[in-house]
Amino acid sequence: MDKFIIVGGNKLNGEIEVESSKNAYLPILSACLLCEEEVVLKKCPIFEDIKNMCDILKSLGVKVEKFGDELHINAKYANNFFISQSLSKKLRSSIFTLGSLLGRFKQAKVAYPGGCEIGLRPVDLHLKGLRALGVKTKECHGYINCDGSGLKGSNICLDFPSVGATENLIMAAVLAKGVTTIFNPAKEPEIEDLQNFLNKMGAKVCGAGTNTITIVGVKKLNGCHYTPIPDRIVAGTYLIASAMCGGKLLIKNVISNHFSILINKLQNSGCKIKQFNDKIYIESSGRLKSINFIKTMPYPGFPTDLQSQILCMQTISKGYSLIQENLFETRFKFVPELLKMGANITIKNQTAYVLGVKKLFGAEVYAKDLRGGAALVLAGLCAEGYTTVYDVYHIDRGYENLEKKLSLLGADIKREREQKWQEK
Ligand code: UD1
Repeated sequence: MDKFIIVGGNKLNGEIEVESSKNAYLPILSACLLCEEEVVLKKCPIFEDIKNMCDILKSLGVKVEKFGDELHINAKYANNFFISQSLSKKLRSSIFTLGSLLGRFKQAKVAYPGGCEIGLRPVDLHLKGLRALGVKTKECHGYINCDGSGLKGSNICLDFPSVGATENLIMAAVLAKGVTTIFNPAKEPEIEDLQNFLNKMGAKVCGAGTNTITIVGVKKLNGCHYTPIPDRIVAGTYLIASAMCGGKLLIKNVISNHFSILINKLQNSGCKIKQFNDKIYIESSGRLKSINFIKTMPYPGFPTDLQSQILCMQTISKGYSLIQENLFETRFKFVPELLKMGANITIKNQTAYVLGVKKLFGAEVYAKDLRGGAALVLAGLCAEGYTTVYDVYHIDRGYENLEKKLSLLGADIKREREQKWQEK
């Protein structure tokens, strides 16, 4: 178990390059199952979740090799449509393989990923959509069994624009006979990236990012080389870190128009921002004004994956802020840790009421989930004194070399391995 030791108070200055998006990479990896030729994915980030998804693919008979930062994936000899409980529980996104397994084998048996650190995460929308495509589904003993022998194109209207359900349905439909139309799909940029990847392999998908996605089934897909999009949540985390600590930061390898809502909030807080196509420059004095109201919403609304970080920023901003979490019910688990550092936050139902304080103080805090853990690092960076963040394995699931990148910008942060108590 690793921990971060942080001495707060340093400004962040310099340049930083953002890694590829975890949430784009995961469904793209899953989609590789649909193709019987080699696929090369570039700029592979070093995230625990990516490694776990590769392990799932290998367990299905897929050849996965890493050369530098390239992943070479060949699913020609994939021979299995079963994902065990032990693999599934390591990675909640294992559910994203349902669609690609059905597309490839017309069958899938996937262990239910179970409860989760940020909420219940049901899969009813995934299953309802698959049933609309002619798939028979049965849930028993912790497994979802799908019979896709009757899989065919159809119309689906999602009750809620779920990211995972949209991705699963696209993947299930790509090799199905006929035309599939998904109404009210998720519009996240990662969906558009999945569409672009599938089309590069010869699929016929259009409309990602709009209110309707159309998929015309094709017989087979061909191999390709592809670079998934950069991680907008990682970039957003660095933008907020810079706003909180102060300094001048250039964030490279981003798609600037993914950040409209965050940039608007940061500008209203007093930060100076310049946007270029693939770069964002931010300058902050570290003295911030509170943002009165933030509510998390599906894209293009404020992302739930940046809620913890922006809430953390409000704890040291001047004024009062109200933050409503509308997607995941237990995403305030990091708040008691922030209280240890002197923050003033009250939670009622799904809303956090934050009264900014002059400064936070270092403390021993525990990461409870990925983004909440990142928020605690941000708190440590601008707090007075020492902060220890335990259980950083949560943070490693979605940030590549976070402490090294922050150190290069001037932060005082180091990783230490916790000594295990040993019996004599
Ligand atoms: C994805 C992201 C996650 C992000 C989330 C919302 C990946 C790997 N993960 O997760 O980082 O926080 O989108 O942007 O891409 N829901 C149901 N039934 C379902 C499916 C979802 O009720 O069948 C609900 C969920 O409980 C949640 C909401 O829909 O309240 C959004 O979930 P969804 O968009 O599906 O998130 P994920 O795909 O799991």
